[in-house]
Amino acid sequence: MNIYKEWGFYESPFNTSALQSNENGMSLLVGRDTEIGQILRRLFTPTASVTIEGLNGVGKTSLVNVSLFKAYQNFFDEETTSLFIPCGKTFQITAETTVDEFVSNLYLEIAQTLIRRSEELKNLGFNLPSNSISIDKWLNSTHVTTWQATLGPMGGGKNIETNTTNGFTESGFKVQIDNWLKEIFPNEENGAVVCIIDNLELLETSEQAKRQLERLRDEIFNLTGIRWVMCGSLGIVKSVASTPRLEGYLHNPIEISSVKRQFIKNLFEKRIKYFSTDTNQTGYLPLTIDDIDFLYEVLNENLRNTIHYCDQYCLYFVDKGITAKTNSDKSKFFLSWLQGEADSIMSSVEGQLRPRALKLFNDIITHGGIFSPSDFEKFEFNSVAALRPQVLELERVALLSSTIDESDNRRKTIQVTPKGWLTSFALRQKK
Ligand SMILES: Nc1ncnc2c1ncn2[C@@H]1O[C@H](COP(=O)(O)OP(=O)(O)OP(=O)(O)O)[C@@H](O)[C@H]1O
Ligand SMILES: [Mg+2]
Repeated sequence: MNIYKEWGFYESPFNTSALQSNENGMSLLVGRDTEIGQILRRLFTPTASVTIEGLNGVGKTSLVNVSLFKAYQNFFDEETTSLFIPCGKTFQITAETTVDEFVSNLYLEIAQTLIRRSEELKNLGFNLPSNSISIDKWLNSTHVTTWQATLGPMGGGKNIETNTTNGFTESGFKVQIDNWLKEIFPNEENGAVVCIIDNLELLETSEQAKRQLERLRDEIFNLTGIRWVMCGSLGIVKSVASTPRLEGYLHNPIEISSVKRQFIKNLFEKRIKYFSTDTNQTGYLPLTIDDIDFLYEVLNENLRNTIHYCDQYCLYFVDKGITAKTNSDKSKFFLSWLQGEADSIMSSVEGQLRPRALKLFNDIITHGGIFSPSDFEKFEFNSVAALRPQVLELERVALLSSTIDESDNRRKTIQVTPKGWLTSFALRQKK
């Protein structure tokens, strides 16, 4: 029943998950040479953590994952003498995450990462100490598995009783891992295990993000053999990086913008080829590369939304029992679907919007689709208060969404949603 399998793919080419830190991720990442360079330069220039800032869905996690894999490979290609090993799991922090929980989870993941790499490490002359076998056994014991399950991806705030199993007290375990790290990475130049804290915006306000990272600061930022990359969106990383208590610990954020339009066709061609079961012939898709490229433009160059809409279209195509073999037929059906989607959104919101809100919407689009309340003059309002009701009107019909940072109003970010970009497309067609 999987439409993509029926079309000759072993997996959907329109999967929206981030690219992984491995060969596959490396083959699929397109158009990010400059940014990879920026990340690697900061990684290879020790002392501070690498930070990344960019809008949702532009490709931050994929970029970091692949950059870290590249750093790892550089060592084996003898391009560098620093060995960076990507940690097997990505971390997230919420307002509820405690320092103890975070650190325990961190050490568990570091241990697993090192054990997974023990063969490579052995070839480099690092024999993980003999008790690594018992650590491995301990890590894979039911107790720890249960512990991980209750902890969940972000940590669930449970009491951790690691000291009850197989004689490894929590601190004993930590000391053991610290010793391994010191042995493998005695100096910063030797490299590190690199850990990612992703989606910092989960902390919602920059005040919360600062507080949480300040709490973690002494526990995690000075550890031998561990380096950090932090990612987030909507200005949160920037505001965290400038806080006095974290200054010096974090590099200024690398700002990640959309993958440039010129790379999009190649990006999707690679994806389609990569997931095709037949190496000589790509699988069937009911839309062309040009259609995808056009969709990317309509959706304001957002990769995640573009991939998602491609997937939605494929399902619609099958649901409706459409057949299209030639490229011109494919494009004809696709464009009429896109137009239909856009028109239906527009007709459902148009009646609800007053002329001032509609004008504001058009002006926001002209200004790039993202702004903060302090930009009120740009939109011909006299004050933030005058702008607010119009923004609320647009938010009510889901053409805009905003992120509120009550600790600092200036950092509130308001942006056009995918629905908004489709409306803008419909409005353009009408003109
Ligand atoms: N440079 C790239 N080349 C090919 N595919 C990419 C690239 N960057 C991102 N993608 C794809 O785009 C989608 C979104 O990427 P990703 O999850 O990395 O974005 P993100 O910025 O981390 O999103 P979020 O802010 O929601 O965490 C994924 O499906 C990923 O596979
Ligand atoms: Mg991400």
